[in-house]
Amino acid sequence: MKLEDEILNQFIGPDNSNRKQVEKLIKNVTSQLLDFLSNAEQKPTYPTFKQLDCPHFQIQEKPLSESKIHSNLQELYDLSMNSANPNYIGHMDSMPTLWSVIGDYIASAINNNLLSLEMSPFLTQLEYSLTKQFARLFGLPEASGGVMLSGGTLSNIQALLVARNIKLGIKNGNVFSLKKEPVIFTSEHSHSSIQKTGMMIGIGVENVIKIKTDENSKIDCNDLNAQIEEQLRLGKQPFAIVATAGTTVSGNIDPLKDISKIAEQNNLWLHVDAIYGGAVIFSKKHKHLITGIEQADSISFNPQKWLYISKTSSMVLFRDFNKMIDSFRISAPYMKEQNAYVNLGEINIQGTKYAEILKLWLSLQGLGKSGYGKLIEYSFHLTKIFKTEISKRPFLKLVCKTEMNILCFRGEPNYLALEKFDTWNENLQLYLLSQTDFFLSLPKYKNNLWLRAVLLNPFLTSKHIKNLFTHIDYYENTNKNR
Ligand SMILES: Cc1ncc(COP(=O)(O)O)c(C=O)c1O
Repeated sequence: MKLEDEILNQFIGPDNSNRKQVEKLIKNVTSQLLDFLSNAEQKPTYPTFKQLDCPHFQIQEKPLSESKIHSNLQELYDLSMNSANPNYIGHMDSMPTLWSVIGDYIASAINNNLLSLEMSPFLTQLEYSLTKQFARLFGLPEASGGVMLSGGTLSNIQALLVARNIKLGIKNGNVFSLKKEPVIFTSEHSHSSIQKTGMMIGIGVENVIKIKTDENSKIDCNDLNAQIEEQLRLGKQPFAIVATAGTTVSGNIDPLKDISKIAEQNNLWLHVDAIYGGAVIFSKKHKHLITGIEQADSISFNPQKWLYISKTSSMVLFRDFNKMIDSFRISAPYMKEQNAYVNLGEINIQGTKYAEILKLWLSLQGLGKSGYGKLIEYSFHLTKIFKTEISKRPFLKLVCKTEMNILCFRGEPNYLALEKFDTWNENLQLYLLSQTDFFLSLPKYKNNLWLRAVLLNPFLTSKHIKNLFTHIDYYENTNKNR
């Protein structure tokens, strides 16, 4: 029995049987993709939402023609969020480096599995090397190292699972055997994944204790000390503090040095969620912003944000990598035992693992540390311009001090009553999107609606920013004269 060509041509023939055909298909698909991406500035940032019901995606009995697949792809492009458009400044969704797009393509094509060394001899070693180098860039000691995971939430979960196992000594036990209920501390403005982590590691969401923040959304260390004392008085078992370097809504950084002292005094694990802000390590001018991070026991960081790697790309780094392995490793009997390079699937909450590392490696080759430094510094340059425009307008207010390239602000025009501010901002967001194609997000923060700009796009210029503010002025004038 032999399979028909129609079936075999759905693969890249290892016998060189269909190379020409494959090249043609890739060329056609690439050309259609580039029609979209190379003209992204002309396409809407956010297409009008179209409800597509279940039959729209009907699984067909027979194969579809290539031209039908192309037309389905066209619909995908037309209805997708367009983060490559410089007017898209609402979220931490950067446009990917070209090398990271190519990296994904190659990673899928060679389809190695980072579950084990035997299944990915080159890529496993690459992941070991790059994560260790990142740990060192953050200032962790020689004994440090890390693993890649598919997203920041998973990185935070793994960090705190290891913290739990080490600090509470329960790798082989369970939380129910503990005499005291374990608790962790984090800022009231930390990412929701920390609460999710509380649920996942068996301590419960209510044992993730929220610490008050100051006027700049940074952890208040007096409250942190008071809460540690209070939890001890209640008979609980504190074991970790999570500090944030780059909060999700306003990009603020907790006082890392002071927090590390508190962690040390109380024998608590210090995890730094540098998912967003960690990228500043590449800027000689701005890396001081996260000084103190070198004291962390673990750090989570997402290259998929400010390092422009396509999603997903995340890592978790540990001060003492061998201790992490000892407290976490579960061997899989179906994988060949490894010592020099412990199989990544044994020391990672994921099993089969995608080669996330490849696109990061290629992008680092394409840009170098210096290229990344320039990208980060350009973001700070744009932030300064954006902030100046806000300060020129008395009706606009920043939520707090801007420390990274995230600007969280809102209109509070003096001709309106306080309770009308939210609607004014909500309508401004809609106006900008429908009339000008600028997309800003609208987070709820401190019980109010705010506008948020994340200045990531390397093609964003001062001209775009000035244009945005001209539209904001137009909206404000129209409302004032109503
Ligand atoms: C500070 C911070 N931590 C964690 C996360 C979660 O990362 P992910 O969405 O990749 O799971 C985010 C996401 O924006 C974040 O901003």
